[in-house]
Amino acid sequence: MIRPFIAGNWKMHKTIGEAVDFASRLRKALAEPLEADVVIAPPFTALYAVAEALRGSEIHICAQNLHEDVSGRGAYTGEVSAPMLADVGCEYVIIGHSERRTLFGEKNGVIVKKIRTALKFGLKAILCIGETLNERDQGKTFTVVERQIKNGLSNFIVDDIKNVVIAYEPVWAIGTGKTATPEQAGEVHAFIRHTMEKYSGKDISRCLAIIYGGSVSPDNIRDLMAQRDINGALVGGASLEIESFIRIVKFT
Ligand code: PGA
Repeated sequence: MIRPFIAGNWKMHKTIGEAVDFASRLRKALAEPLEADVVIAPPFTALYAVAEALRGSEIHICAQNLHEDVSGRGAYTGEVSAPMLADVGCEYVIIGHSERRTLFGEKNGVIVKKIRTALKFGLKAILCIGETLNERDQGKTFTVVERQIKNGLSNFIVDDIKNVVIAYEPVWAIGTGKTATPEQAGEVHAFIRHTMEKYSGKDISRCLAIIYGGSVSPDNIRDLMAQRDINGALVGGASLEIESFIRIVKFT
């Protein structure tokens, strides 16, 4: 049984004050030991303050991006390195989110480097993959998803994959209110697990957390989680509001 994994991606939202207030209320609302891995991804500016507010709790901190340079430093104005993220208290980092791919031109080559660099500095990677509406309409969902897995993960050893979570996020469902049906998502998740088995073996594919993202809400989380190969959720909009995020975390 794979432990449920619920992550909130705040994107470019919340000041330090708002972020700390959310984190403190979340901590109070969740009785430990938690029944799921609960992760929040504040913007860079609030990471330290949120990590401090959650120190000693079971809630994990995640960054939304990192720079790929494997040395962890250099002349990259405006960028943030993996060791900086680890230093500030992050355990996870989101890599290859579709907004990074489409709005910031991140290609698979850079995404692989980011995974390698994150793992080198002890961060766990949440790798996002998923097809566009056009690709789905053309029947290319499985081809696209397999290519993203192959390009992103096929060269990593099993010990690395243990520190990776895959987030299947159909691009057409992100921020649109259009969720994939549980069956649609479940079918792709099963395919992802099968593909991971092909590249990395049965043992690792059986315990790999594959989470769904794209308009997840308190109303659809339970049906999504009822699918065999859906192990959790990467939540955008509905993670910004404390009540809805708590309802998602406590979906059972
Ligand atoms: P959404 O975003 O829940 O607002 O659709 C999900 C994501 O971008 O990870």
